[in-house]
Amino acid sequence: MKSVTTYGLLVECFWLALFCGSATPLLADSDHHKWDKLYLVHHWPVTVCMMNDNECKDPPMYWTIHGLWPDKAEECNRSWHFNVSELKDFMEDMREYWPDILHTNHTHFWRHEWEKHGTCAAELEALNSQKKYFQKTLEFYRKINLNSFLLKVGIKPGPTYYQLAAIKEALESVYNITPKIQCLPPEEGRLQVMGQIKFCLTKEFTLRNCTEPQSDLSSAHEDNSTEDLSICNDTLTYYPSHMHT
Ligand SMILES: *[C@@H]1O[C@H](CO)[C@@H](O)[C@H](O)[C@H]1NC(C)=O
Ligand SMILES: *[C@@H]1O[C@H](CO)[C@@H](O)[C@H](O)[C@H]1NC(C)=O
Ligand SMILES: *[C@@H]1O[C@H](CO)[C@@H](O)[C@H](O)[C@H]1NC(C)=O
Ligand SMILES: *[C@@H]1O[C@H](CO)[C@@H](O)[C@H](O)[C@H]1NC(C)=O
Ligand SMILES: *[C@@H]1O[C@H](CO)[C@@H](O)[C@H](O)[C@H]1NC(C)=O
Ligand SMILES: *[C@@H]1O[C@H](CO)[C@@H](O)[C@H](O)[C@H]1NC(C)=O
Repeated sequence: MKSVTTYGLLVECFWLALFCGSATPLLADSDHHKWDKLYLVHHWPVTVCMMNDNECKDPPMYWTIHGLWPDKAEECNRSWHFNVSELKDFMEDMREYWPDILHTNHTHFWRHEWEKHGTCAAELEALNSQKKYFQKTLEFYRKINLNSFLLKVGIKPGPTYYQLAAIKEALESVYNITPKIQCLPPEEGRLQVMGQIKFCLTKEFTLRNCTEPQSDLSSAHEDNSTEDLSICNDTLTYYPSHMHT
């Protein structure tokens, strides 16, 4: 009897705490920065160049990192400034796998990714410094190893095209999850162009299925450079090896 009463009291206190807490500005503010999963976003450099009036010389012919993004939070700490020196121990990897496709100086891109996404991801202990955030992202990128798996299942950039379903099935067979595949919508008489692949990760850094597009708010406010990309339609898809096709 006594234990039941105690239990009831506890439950009541719990709800009270929740209710009162949500009314305070402090909690409301941290609620605003709540997120559930991470996107490890890969982009295809040739498509990035096509989206920016081909303003690149020799884009890499492999998928590079766009960023590691919490799904529902941005710019969580404006006073945590980017410091490129934190990346000095793995600068070569940064340049090779996380380059700014459009500019020779990558610093602005990395700063943007840190300020917009890293400051939110930093809520996790494993990502709570700039060094950890960038280094861990490189580590997941290597683990996912998208470039070699795509080649292994025979999906290669070139003048031919693929059914989106074939690409999806290939990725599913490798990863046992379906990443989000984003495309540049077709220009008149042409096909959609594959541009970005987003893998969804839990806060424990395991791969998970992404939610359905309609329940995903994040695509509404993505980085400017990707504003033209949307979820690929189930149709023929280019995976371009050249900017001019
Ligand atoms: C924001 O970042 C600064 C600098 O790292 C830190 O001192 C501060 O505690 C952070 N604020 C929050 C709310 O995490
Ligand atoms: C930037 O990072 C380096 C290396 O960790 C550190 O020595 C330096 O004090 C930092 N600079 C600022 C302004 O925080
Ligand atoms: C890149 O840009 C940053 C920030 O503006 C600047 O501090 C740095 O000197 C530039 N690096 C090179 C190699 O030009
Ligand atoms: C992802 O969804 C597919 C298809 O519904 C399912 O077969 C697979 O087990 C799921 N993967 C995970 C890791 O939940
Ligand atoms: C997919 O189809 C919808 C509806 O026709 C269209 O609005 C959207 O732009 C298409 N997306 C792509 C990547 O082509
Ligand atoms: C994105 O666009 C907004 C408004 O158009 C601009 O204020 C912001 O600086 C842009 N961000 C980047 C990274 O270009």
